[in-house]
Amino acid sequence: MSVPEFSGQPIIILKEGTERSQGRDARNANIMAARVVANAVKSSLGPKGMDKMLVDSFGDVTITNDGAAMLKEMDVQHPAAKMMVEVSKTQDAEVGDGTTSVVVLAGELLGKAVSLMEKKIHPTVIIDGYRDAQEQALKFLEEIAINVEPRDKEMLKNVSMTSMASKLVSGYGDYLSDLAVDAILQIAEEGDDGYDVDIDMVKLEKKPGGSLNDTTLIRGLVIDKEVVHPDMPKLVRDAKIGLLNAAMEIEKTEFDSKIHIERPEEMQAYLDQEEQMLREMVAKVRGAGINVLFCQKGVDDMVQHFMAREGILATRRLKKSDMEALSKATGAKIVSTVDDLTETDAGYAATVEERKIGDDKMIFVEGCKNPKAVSVLIRGGTERIVDEAERSLHDALCVIRDVVEEPSVVAGGGAPEIEVARRLRRYSEGLGGRERLAVSAFAEALEVIPTTLAENTGMDPIDAISEMQSRHEKGELWVGLDSLNGKVSEMTEINVYEPMQVKAQAIKSATEATTMLLKIDDVIAASKASAPPGGMPGGMPGGMPPGGMPPM
Ligand SMILES: Nc1ncnc2c1ncn2[C@@H]1O[C@H](COP(=O)(O)OP(=O)(O)OP(=O)(O)O)[C@@H](O)[C@H]1O
Ligand SMILES: [Mg+2]
Repeated sequence: MSVPEFSGQPIIILKEGTERSQGRDARNANIMAARVVANAVKSSLGPKGMDKMLVDSFGDVTITNDGAAMLKEMDVQHPAAKMMVEVSKTQDAEVGDGTTSVVVLAGELLGKAVSLMEKKIHPTVIIDGYRDAQEQALKFLEEIAINVEPRDKEMLKNVSMTSMASKLVSGYGDYLSDLAVDAILQIAEEGDDGYDVDIDMVKLEKKPGGSLNDTTLIRGLVIDKEVVHPDMPKLVRDAKIGLLNAAMEIEKTEFDSKIHIERPEEMQAYLDQEEQMLREMVAKVRGAGINVLFCQKGVDDMVQHFMAREGILATRRLKKSDMEALSKATGAKIVSTVDDLTETDAGYAATVEERKIGDDKMIFVEGCKNPKAVSVLIRGGTERIVDEAERSLHDALCVIRDVVEEPSVVAGGGAPEIEVARRLRRYSEGLGGRERLAVSAFAEALEVIPTTLAENTGMDPIDAISEMQSRHEKGELWVGLDSLNGKVSEMTEINVYEPMQVKAQAIKSATEATTMLLKIDDVIAASKASAPPGGMPGGMPGGMPPGGMPPM
């Protein structure tokens, strides 16, 4: 790559094969790629939105409606498209829901920016206008938000039902929402300034089989393992729990070694000694008062037998994450040798029991020392349903947490977007020429949410939007789009509520991503070690223009 000739010699500053695009080309390619992503997820927005079936390179199938999950599986290549994926990931990490909305909104903000640029408005002006609009939008959102009680079960359930309404499992939304609300209220910790909820305290465990209605909330943990020996107890009350991160076996030497045995008695003595060592291990466990042992590594057959005789319940080869969860829940310390098992480091649970779930056995640890440990055992007809139920429950748990932590909600169905847009337009009237255009473009972009909801419901979006707008003008703050009945109506009457945080975060993240993309006017891409033939895989248009650098 070269720059214009300087005293006859081109100056090479970039490596050979590097592609570069600048100015409008760079910006347009980026915007186009990002909008393609937004369009791809658009049809899945709302209760009447479609699901996507994604097949990964191994042939594994995922069926989902979750924006973040779709984008994760899509494996997009274009850098700007990847940014959209990031936006939905951020939304997922921050608030857990609204991952489709945020991408659709960002796509629309970019689309409106393109129209403004066509009218010769400089990107910097658009960026400033968008940032100002964002700030105002967040303020308007706070103004209209409804404050609620953090432990208001009914409201928490509404919020959860709304988030599940758009999912494959919506038919079970009522049942699953009750369960999700109970789970979060169980783990919510009251502090000086409200509640604190650590969502990781809710362990989601899946077992295909049965129906979604067989999903249960367990006040404790479920471990997907079985008791190692048939003679061990299947139920232990007043469990003193030991957590061991070592094998209950005789250590094998690292090198080949030989033992010469000449007489049969010697052989016997050797075996006896081994047995003695194994017995001692079990004696240590017993000596520490432990009657339930979770072992992260293997457990020798003979040890199993001795432990069974002592009435100890044991399981082996636990996942590290399970060991950590058990430690948190029961108060037991994970030790790395049998010698370190002591009474003081043992944990407690009221019961530890092996139960049959479908064709499998699982271990239930209930009545733990730490009552904040809860699990949800998800059941469902097939593996894919169970997987999607897990994602939906995750969203539900997140929105409930959002409201418990910050007890403020808005109605859904596009009502807040219509209202915020209305107020933004009024605000823009006080602004000067070009900025005013940017702010009202932002307002229009917000309306993509109700518009898309209407489209996906099969309604005429223009009619729906104008009806909503005129009713909002009359002060009907929460009039939105009732997707299920295909009409415009008062959303508070059908209890469609969402956390204020989800809306606020979507506006913030979408604006951030949009302004970032608008600011880029130069894309310099190093040559790929092995570029796939035919440009961008995955059919993303808007890659680097062929031939690299456009004329300067
Ligand atoms: N009964 C309903 N009527 C109308 N709109 C609804 C109803 N229930 C939910 N919605 C709306 O659907 C939108 C959410 O749709 P959806 O859950 O598919 O996407 P998301 O929350 O943006 O992303 P994801 O759930 O994939 O993270 C919200 O705007 C919400 O207000
Ligand atoms: Mg949702």
